[in-house]
Amino acid sequence: MPLFHQILKTFFHALIIAEVILGQSDREVLLELKNFLQFQNPINHGGYNSWPESGTSPCHWQGVGCDASGRVNFLDLSNSNISGPAFQNLSRLSGLTHLDLSANSITGELHDDLKNCLHLQYLNLSYNLISGILDISSLTNLQTLDVSQNRFEGGISANFPAICRNLSAINLSSNNLTGSISRLFNNCLKLQDVDLSWNNFTGNVWNGIARLRQFKAGKNNFAGSISSRTFSTGCKLQSLDLSSNHFYGNFPSSIANCAGLTYLSIWDNHFNGSIPPGIGSIHGLEELVLASNHFYREIPLELMNCTSLKYLDISDNNFGGEVQQVLGILTSLTNLVLQENNYSGGIVSSGILGLPKLALLDLSFNNFNGKLPTEIASMGSIKVLMLAENNFSGTIPPSYGQLVNLQALDLSYNSLSGEIPPSIGNLTSLLLLMLAGNQLSGEIPREIGNCTNLLWLNLVGNRLSGQIPPEMAGMGRNPSSTFAKNQKNPSLMKSVTSKCLAVYRWVPSSYPEFDYVQSMMFSHKNCRTIWNRLLMGYDILPASSPLRTALGYVQLSGNLLSGQIPSAIGAMKNISLLLLDGNRLSGHLPSEIGSLQLVALNASNNSISGEIPFEIGNLGSIESLDLSCNNFSGSLPSSLEKLSKLSQFNVSYNPLLTGEVPSSGQLSTFSELSFLGDPLLSWRSAAGHPRPKNGTEFFFNGTEYPTKEDISVSVIAFLVFFSVTFVIRELQIIIFLYNIIMYKLTDHRTPLQ
Ligand SMILES: *[C@@H]1O[C@H](CO)[C@@H](O)[C@H](O)[C@H]1NC(C)=O
Ligand SMILES: *[C@@H]1O[C@H](CO)[C@@H](O)[C@H](O)[C@H]1NC(C)=O
Ligand SMILES: *[C@@H]1O[C@H](CO)[C@@H](O)[C@H](O)[C@H]1NC(C)=O
Ligand SMILES: *[C@@H]1O[C@H](CO)[C@@H](O)[C@H](O)[C@H]1NC(C)=O
Ligand SMILES: *[C@@H]1O[C@H](CO)[C@@H](O)[C@H](O)[C@H]1NC(C)=O
Ligand SMILES: *[C@@H]1O[C@H](CO)[C@@H](O)[C@H](O)[C@H]1NC(C)=O
Ligand SMILES: *[C@@H]1O[C@H](CO)[C@@H](O)[C@H](O)[C@H]1NC(C)=O
Ligand SMILES: *[C@@H]1O[C@H](CO)[C@@H](O)[C@H](O)[C@H]1NC(C)=O
Ligand SMILES: *[C@@H]1O[C@H](CO)[C@@H](O)[C@H](O)[C@H]1NC(C)=O
Ligand SMILES: *[C@@H]1O[C@H](CO)[C@@H](O)[C@H](O)[C@H]1NC(C)=O
Ligand SMILES: *[C@@H]1O[C@H](CO)[C@@H](O)[C@H](O)[C@H]1NC(C)=O
Ligand SMILES: *[C@@H]1O[C@H](CO)[C@@H](O)[C@H](O)[C@H]1NC(C)=O
Repeated sequence: MPLFHQILKTFFHALIIAEVILGQSDREVLLELKNFLQFQNPINHGGYNSWPESGTSPCHWQGVGCDASGRVNFLDLSNSNISGPAFQNLSRLSGLTHLDLSANSITGELHDDLKNCLHLQYLNLSYNLISGILDISSLTNLQTLDVSQNRFEGGISANFPAICRNLSAINLSSNNLTGSISRLFNNCLKLQDVDLSWNNFTGNVWNGIARLRQFKAGKNNFAGSISSRTFSTGCKLQSLDLSSNHFYGNFPSSIANCAGLTYLSIWDNHFNGSIPPGIGSIHGLEELVLASNHFYREIPLELMNCTSLKYLDISDNNFGGEVQQVLGILTSLTNLVLQENNYSGGIVSSGILGLPKLALLDLSFNNFNGKLPTEIASMGSIKVLMLAENNFSGTIPPSYGQLVNLQALDLSYNSLSGEIPPSIGNLTSLLLLMLAGNQLSGEIPREIGNCTNLLWLNLVGNRLSGQIPPEMAGMGRNPSSTFAKNQKNPSLMKSVTSKCLAVYRWVPSSYPEFDYVQSMMFSHKNCRTIWNRLLMGYDILPASSPLRTALGYVQLSGNLLSGQIPSAIGAMKNISLLLLDGNRLSGHLPSEIGSLQLVALNASNNSISGEIPFEIGNLGSIESLDLSCNNFSGSLPSSLEKLSKLSQFNVSYNPLLTGEVPSSGQLSTFSELSFLGDPLLSWRSAAGHPRPKNGTEFFFNGTEYPTKEDISVSVIAFLVFFSVTFVIRELQIIIFLYNIIMYKLTDHRTPLQ
């Protein structure tokens, strides 16, 4: 029939014309979008900036894609420096199926325009600042939804099951979403991957999780016991994370039905009873994290069938007695974390020291005692060994020098005695050595200088004596070889346990820059990530930090070290924190100290004498400088005025310091609390720079009418000055008397020590 044919032909023509018009209008919308984004973000632009104002089809523009008919169906504006509210006309791209706005700084709430992009199959809004209620109930074609890392709040029941039909992956993690999910996904028959972590969801876990491939619900307010029906036969789960919730009761042994499971984490809940034996039949299980629960009794023998298990963390539970032999059979283990239990023995008899691939062993915070096992010396693959906070005694076996792959050795807070074995110098991969809080004696072995990767050394609170060996300057000289190894093999570095207890010992958080590192570790989701970055030698400090790479430390406080600080110390370029306080160091502070790149130096409570070296003014990054309670003499070097980052400064109780505290520059910003017990120091307040008044006032500038207290103080000061000219040697006694008088005159705000 020709008429029908004609109609059909016209219809198709119309369709083609419509397609062309629509295609052109897609281009217009994109150009409007470009204008909008350029206007909104005047400084940094993204790939959209290259879209041509004139020309042809947008199908090959950066981040744009089209379907067969030439309609724009794909738009990727991820990581494009977009800030401010979102563009309101995207729904005019009516063919859009894939929209990625992730990794920008888009603010405001989701608006109706986006809800009208009805054909969307892929929507990624992750890593933005979008707030308000998550309402996408009209997007019924969605297959992939990622809104993680935003500020969505409220419930999600309006969306599910409304958009369930084709949904296969949803990521809602890191928002403030609330409410129960127990029935919401029942009709999402294609769902495979669900990530709800880091929200505030409540109620029990959804009983359909066995259908999924991946279910992550960590760090929420889920609660209740987990029914054995949750893991029904045919369970498809490969990865399950229920950590940091309030689940309780026994963990069901029916987990055995999830035969394809490779990752199971239920740490930080209230599970009790014994570890479910069913786990033993999951042969492919690689990671098992049961930490911070109330598991107790024997580890079930069935676990020995987990022949693929690489990472086992049962820390912070109620295990005790001897370490069980079942652990020594798990020959695939690379990381074994038993910290914070009540184990008291069995390290050798369990066979764990013979595990051929073990790279990390954490036995800290238990009740182990007796000598350190010499068998450890044969652990060829060990990289991180933590035996801290136990009751080990005796000496450190010299044979530990064979552990040439060791990167971190933490034996702190035990009862170890004797000398640090010189074979420690054999540990050329070592990055961290923690021996604090023992009774180690003798000298620091010179060989430690052979540990060229050793960036973090803490020997605080022992009985080490003798001089600081000049060879020590070689430690940490070039940590790049260990960093390079770790960069090649980043998977090793599941080194810090779920709770990151080691960080408390390892990061000296009361000092600048390190305080920042620690705050980052706690504000971020997982301190592991940051610790791993440190072990790979990557920057973690903000761009404003004076330090870019070197973040090393040497902590020797609270020992019996004596003699002069070696001038070789000036070569320790990678050390930013040097703590020498509370020793018996004497002689001069070497001028080479000025060649370091220190952020903090504490040499207080020693007997260091002579002048404070002028070169100290070269420590341009220093923020904290404590030289108090020594015998420094002479005047404060004028170079100190240049230290513009200095925020903590203490030269108190160096009674021989003389001269004037500068009235300008950085030193003028400190109150007299920084200069207590330095009676020979004087002040001249310059106009505009009055000395901050605080606490004990014992100088006056002479123009003000002196108060009664000022007079008595000045009399004493005069006495002191007077005496100086006659009996230098008696000075200390006079100062002592002076201090006592001062103590009585003032309101005891700053107790003399
Ligand atoms: C975002 O801005 C930064 C800084 O100007 C620039 O280096 C980067 O290339 C921009 N990103 C894109 C995708 O253009
Ligand atoms: C959205 O499109 C309308 C026309 O449909 C136009 O008037 C308006 O200016 C556009 N808004 C933006 C932000 O481009
Ligand atoms: C969403 O975007 C982020 C950042 O660009 C990306 O890492 C993530 O893989 C994307 N999500 C999905 C489900 O593709
Ligand atoms: C979640 O809400 C709390 C309390 O209202 C707020 O402090 C926090 O910043 C919010 N978190 C996010 C990711 O929006
Ligand atoms: C959504 O699912 C329905 C029914 O299963 C199917 O007909 C339709 O093609 C799917 N849509 C998409 C965009 O895959
Ligand atoms: C969900 O998003 C977060 C943050 O963007 C990401 O770390 C996580 O791996 C994602 N989850 C899944 C299952 O992809
Ligand atoms: C999570 O929800 C509980 C009540 O269910 C509330 O008390 C708490 O403040 C919420 N936390 C956040 C971070 O919103
Ligand atoms: C380990 O698995 C084997 C074979 O699957 C089985 O015969 C054995 O009983 C299991 N061992 C334990 C302790 O469950
Ligand atoms: C030092 O390391 C080598 C291997 O590099 C080893 O053969 C030797 O026994 C070690 N020395 C000591 C004292 O441990
Ligand atoms: C290790 O240090 C000692 C003492 O400082 C030195 O004599 C020796 O040559 C060093 N060994 C190596 C291999 O560098
Ligand atoms: C003396 O001190 C007072 C306040 O304590 C101040 O106002 C005055 O300017 C000072 N005089 C001189 C000369 O510094
Ligand atoms: C001044 O004294 C007050 C009260 O004793 C104290 O809280 C404050 O920290 C002091 N300020 C300075 C700069 O020392």
